[in-house]
This record gives sequence, C-alpha cells and structure tokens, in this order.
Amino acid sequence: MNIQWYPGHMTKAKRQMQEDIKLIDLIIELVDARIPRSSQNPDIDELGRNKARLILLNKSDLADEAENEQWAAYFRQKGCFTAKVNSKTGAGLKALSPIIREACAQKLERDKRRGIKNRPIRAMVVGIPNVGKSTFINSFAGRACAKTGNKPGVTKGKQWIRLNKETELLDTPGILWPKFEDERVGVNLALIGSVKDDILNLEELSLELIDRVRENYPGILAARYEIEEEGKPVEVLERIAAKRGCIKKGGDMDYAKAASLLLEEFRNGKIGRITLERPQE
Ligand code: G4P
Repeated sequence: MNIQWYPGHMTKAKRQMQEDIKLIDLIIELVDARIPRSSQNPDIDELGRNKARLILLNKSDLADEAENEQWAAYFRQKGCFTAKVNSKTGAGLKALSPIIREACAQKLERDKRRGIKNRPIRAMVVGIPNVGKSTFINSFAGRACAKTGNKPGVTKGKQWIRLNKETELLDTPGILWPKFEDERVGVNLALIGSVKDDILNLEELSLELIDRVRENYPGILAARYEIEEEGKPVEVLERIAAKRGCIKKGGDMDYAKAASLLLEEFRNGKIGRITLERPQE
C-alpha cells in the first residue's frame, strides 16, 4: 500500500505541537481501542517526555470489551494512566477527573510546596487523524465550554477551555501522523477507515478483514451474514455478495460492492465488537 501524508504539513504540525506541549502539564493521548498499538505514534514518547500522560482507549464501544480490559492493563503496567471511553456518547468521561488529578499529583504537590494556589492543570489532546479528538473535546468540555480567552503575555493566541475549577484544556488538538513503517500497521489503519478509501484496494482489504475476523472471532461472520465462513476468503466474500444482493447487471458478482459493504459494517460495529490487535503480539 502506497500512502502519502504530505511531509511539509507534518513537519509544521509537529513543530506546533512541540510548542504547545511546553504550555501543558498533561497529555491526553487518544488511541483507537480496536487497534491501540497501530493508532499510537511513537513520537509521542519523545514529545511528551517529562509530562504526565493519560492514554484513552477511545471508540471502546466498537472494540471487544475483554480486549479493552487487556489493553488498559497493558498500558497501566507500562506506567501510563489509562481509561476507556466512548466520546460519541460520553460514556467513561465522568471518571476522568479523578484520574487526571492522580496523573498530575506531582505537579499539584510541587505547586503546593512552592505556595502556588489554584493554578489549573493544563491539558492537551493528541492523536492521529480520525481517532476522535474533536468529538472528545466537545463531549468532555460539554457544558463547561466557556473559553477562558487569551492570557496576555503567557499564552498569546491560545484558547483554553475551562473544564472545572482545576483543569483547563487547550481547544485545538495535536495531530500525530500514523507511522506506516510496518505493513500490518497500515492495514490496521485502513481497516478501521483511517486511510482514505480511494487510495486503497478495497477488495484486498476486505479479504484481509475476513481472514482476521475469522481467526479471532470464529462464527461472527457466519452469524451476521447467515453464511458458511469456511474456505478461501474470496469464497466468503462471494457468499456475502450473494446474500446481500451485490450482483452486477449481467449476473456477475459485484466484489467491489460486497467489499465496501463488509468494511462499512465492520467500521460501524455492525458485525460485532472487534479488536484487531492484542497487547502481547
Ligand atoms: P479527529 O478530531 O481525531 O479527527 O476525529 P473526530 O472527532 O472528527 O471523529 C472521527 C469520527 O469518529 C467521527 O465519525 C466521530 O463521530 C467518531 N467517533 C469519535 N469518538 C467515537 C467513539 O468513542 N465511538 C464511536 N463509535 N465513534 C466515535 P464520523 O463518521 O466522521 O461522523 P459521525 O459518524 O459522527 O457522523
């Protein structure tokens, strides 16, 4: 797969993020719960050095609940604070305030020692495109959406959203570009729809999806499409095409249509809650 992300654009965004990170205490890093590793950009380790970090498993509603727990345990074991959320409905967001306090305990303690009172925790949301950053900011800030405005001399041009008495959120998220060095990462990102479909071979992608889903969630395709799921992936795609009426005028199978249908249903969670990678892999 040949994927381009416009390096000029990337460099500028990265520089901007480096500047923004200087202003904050806490990085709220969103990953996609269906592919927590592939949707993480390793640059964040370097960019976020010396900052508290909270990893949110977003879109947890689309991922396998047992795997959500596994991933949360994995990130915790690596020393990160973590929580699973659904930014679309707001599920899991209420629990974040105490976690943020805990993640920033050192800063709060330091402020206290220095006699600094009521200096809010400042946080910034980062993540790859389409992971749900804007949705998260809107849901999390919600009613508290009052912008605090510019503070002369300190944060010129920056808009902060006051979440509560002790937390402010930078209103623009930091965009990290995914790393496609490993082909599997590229495929995972394509499967969840984070890569523009017009540059992908959707039929090939759908066959990969069939393979992966069958391997990790046996029976789930059979149940959804009322088909036999054994055999070559292309045969499974043909059965799905037949069941769903993906047939061209002359009576030939419309593979492209069946592939799009399958991918769309997977991305919307209609096939089931599916996680595509495991922490121990
Ligand atoms: P970004 O700023 O990081 O680029 O992502 P954005 O918030 O635009 O979200 C990308 C898509 O992901 C949106 O869907 C959004 O609704 C969806 N999304 C965000 N968080 C969650 C979540 O926790 N669960 C689920 N199921 N979806 C989530 P869209 O297709 O662009 O629009 P729409 O479906 O909302 O109409």
